[in-house]
Amino acid sequence: MSILNLEHVSYGYIDGNKKRMILSDLSYQFERGKFYTVLGPSGSGKTTLLAIAGGLEKTQEGKLLFDGKNINDIGLGRYRKKYLSFVFQQFNLIPYLTAVENVVNVMEITDNKVPKPYKETALNLLNQFGIVKSKAERSILKLSGGEQQRVAIARGLATNVDLILADEPSGNLDTATEKEIIKIFRSLAKDYNKCVIVVTHSEGVSSLSDIQLELKDGKLIERR
Ligand SMILES: Nc1ncnc2c1ncn2[C@@H]1O[C@H](COP(=O)(O)OP(=O)(O)OP(=O)(O)O)[C@@H](O)[C@H]1O
Ligand SMILES: [Mg+2]
Repeated sequence: MSILNLEHVSYGYIDGNKKRMILSDLSYQFERGKFYTVLGPSGSGKTTLLAIAGGLEKTQEGKLLFDGKNINDIGLGRYRKKYLSFVFQQFNLIPYLTAVENVVNVMEITDNKVPKPYKETALNLLNQFGIVKSKAERSILKLSGGEQQRVAIARGLATNVDLILADEPSGNLDTATEKEIIKIFRSLAKDYNKCVIVVTHSEGVSSLSDIQLELKDGKLIERR
């Protein structure tokens, strides 16, 4: 069964006095064990699509099923908290906490069978992304853009969920680090059977995914 099923989803914004459709009658089924990328020009609606898929926005038409259940029945708040994790385009880290506190924070909120003590698990996870202990214990604002991004990714993986949504997660990274991170996303899909959906502008990143999608005229199209 698909993990995430979008059925006839439409979504638009009011622009002046008329409605501009961003997603229109979009249907697609995402599966576990696959790494997807979503390409599309700036403004085509990729972030909007992730907001809908992640329960940050309500569909205006159509529905979303997670493991066959309508997410409105699960409750959007519960859906966001328990079933998925988000890596945002603008990190959205908590600036007055350290890197490791940011990661521990989501472990505590989600409470999803993550090995304890949380701090040790969080430090190990950060270390996998090249954030050594001394950096992990530094305030977020004292890390570089690329380091903050890696903390945001580690945080996104810290909660042991099956659905990972990431918006331009490699935007601030050099090519070598980008490759490492894409390898981790791939491994989450292949070795841990998660569903990973990554929005990207990079053809290189996209070419490493199982399924390359393009957002076009409000719909998702598989590239071949
Ligand atoms: N809250 C909003 N109200 C009105 N229009 C919006 C709102 N949010 C986004 N839009 C518009 O909807 C369109 C799609 O935006 P979205 O952020 O989904 O694009 P995107 O594909 O993620 O672009 P980028 O690659 O630049 O991040 C854009 O034209 C944007 O200006
Ligand atoms: Mg965007």
